[in-house]
Amino acid sequence: MKITIITLFPEMFKGPFDHSIVKRAIQKDAIQIKFINIRDFGIGKHKLVDDKPFGGGAGMILRVDVLEKAIEKAKDKKIKKGKEKVFLLGPHGKVFNSKMAKKLDVLAHLILLCGHYEGVDERIKKMVDGEISIGDFILTGGEIPAMLITDAVVRLQKGVIREGAAMTESFFPYLEYPQYTQPRKHKNMSVPAILLSGNHKEIEKWKKEKALAITKKLRPDLIFESHSDEKRPKVIEKDPEN
Ligand SMILES: C[S@@+](CC[C@H](N)C(=O)[O-])C[C@H]1O[C@@H](n2cnc3c(N)ncnc32)[C@H](O)[C@@H]1O
Repeated sequence: MKITIITLFPEMFKGPFDHSIVKRAIQKDAIQIKFINIRDFGIGKHKLVDDKPFGGGAGMILRVDVLEKAIEKAKDKKIKKGKEKVFLLGPHGKVFNSKMAKKLDVLAHLILLCGHYEGVDERIKKMVDGEISIGDFILTGGEIPAMLITDAVVRLQKGVIREGAAMTESFFPYLEYPQYTQPRKHKNMSVPAILLSGNHKEIEKWKKEKALAITKKLRPDLIFESHSDEKRPKVIEKDPEN
């Protein structure tokens, strides 16, 4: 999979992408990450990328003509139609979650467009496949959302983490069961005896039960969402939102 990030600040990505799983995924060629600098498409000798909002208001808006050229540059003509998608990062978008990460994971080319300053000219929304938000708050730019989405999607790529491991983590579909390591006893807290029993069948059963119980307690909405009416475990029958 290829991910192209369109940004005014490609150097911001150096730390997060140069460590741990994302770094290893790049080294293994499980993922290719490219950057397009919006400044390269700026207007005139000063390479202007933004201007004041029409109608007044604070801050500067990234120009639609500049962003359009950056998107065109990012697109890869070799990729089949439907396998390449462009998403604007912005607070008006659909809120990112693991389901969305799974949908993005099947693309051959994911293009993420980072806004900055006061935002982007509204007309750019007609030139992208959608808008993704990472939550109900305002960040300075789309760079941190792009890092976050890249990290979540890269983990799902084949060969990046241990086979099947991503699918047992939280939100696939429940919260994960509690985990323990050494020491076996810390102060007055012991590791549950079942995990030390060596009985793998019982351990698996315990993990499933714990995951369900924790999800029921902390995030009943996940149980409601992940099953049709007939298949929903008896622990939750009503939409917790209603
Ligand atoms: C300061 S914000 C602009 C906010 C905009 N004026 C508003 O009130 O809706 C600048 C850029 O940061 C990014 N951004 C800010 N908050 C975000 C969020 N919650 N999710 C995704 N991107 C966000 C977007 O790319 C946005 O264009």
